[in-house]
Amino acid sequence: MSNENQTIKDFGEQWLKYRDNEGFYGSLELFSDMISPFLKLDEIKNCRVAEIGSGTGRIVNMLLAAGAKHVIAVEPSDAYEVLCRNIQQPEKVTCLKITGDQLPPYGDLDYIFAIGVLHHIPDPGPVVEAAFKALRSGGHFFVWLYGREGNRLYLALIEPLRILTKHLPHFLLAALVEIIYWPLLFYIKFCHRLPLPLRGYMLSILEKMSPEKRRLIIYDQLNPAYARYYTRFEAEKLFSDGKFINIRIHHRHGYSWTVIGTKPHL
Ligand SMILES: C[S@@+](CC[C@H](N)C(=O)[O-])C[C@H]1O[C@@H](n2cnc3c(N)ncnc32)[C@H](O)[C@@H]1O
Repeated sequence: MSNENQTIKDFGEQWLKYRDNEGFYGSLELFSDMISPFLKLDEIKNCRVAEIGSGTGRIVNMLLAAGAKHVIAVEPSDAYEVLCRNIQQPEKVTCLKITGDQLPPYGDLDYIFAIGVLHHIPDPGPVVEAAFKALRSGGHFFVWLYGREGNRLYLALIEPLRILTKHLPHFLLAALVEIIYWPLLFYIKFCHRLPLPLRGYMLSILEKMSPEKRRLIIYDQLNPAYARYYTRFEAEKLFSDGKFINIRIHHRHGYSWTVIGTKPHL
């Protein structure tokens, strides 16, 4: 099986186990943090938007709560069933069980979001191209990616570990997550006192998650077959190769990249 298909399969299995989007993890507060400093919630009101790689529908529901007029939700994995079930205003959503590169060329979308998705696709170029075609002229593509910069120590630990963990069955991976969970709690506490690596992320995001969602986040790091950590240059290049203009990039909490670009008037 290709890396892309294996990753989709891994996420299908993951989201059938971790189905809900409760608490801070699915909140508008978190969405507002994700899209700042480039977008405000108000800017999504009455817009026609798409989300590529919707998983359990967490971001779709955030977009609806922010007032989107219509959301196209793209999810290729077996999580499609969970996505359809979790959507809060189904009359405003079109769900498509396709990969991102198959997004229809609507040509009238105001925004397309891909949050935590392109770094799980070995060749994201065709997905960026499909997003470009589906946007209206002047529409925006917004992406959140794992970053390489700011993650040096973390990557030294996680990359060797993932060689093993991406092959583990659910029960073993869940047991490993439990082992990692408790030292992580102490690490978060120490971040209050010391300028430790990933401090911004630990205190602004992870500490606000419920214990269940912290476990999911650890699992999500260890489970998928393919995960790439982008440098700033690589993240920007995705957009410039995709012919987007007015490309802006932000080092979110010092460990990840948010990138936004605009489709030019053709
Ligand atoms: C980390 S999850 C993010 C889910 C959601 N965006 C969120 O933030 O809650 C990545 C999602 O991308 C999906 N995915 C993987 N490969 C994809 C592809 N080629 N096209 C579209 N989605 C894909 C996975 O099935 C998975 O649900």
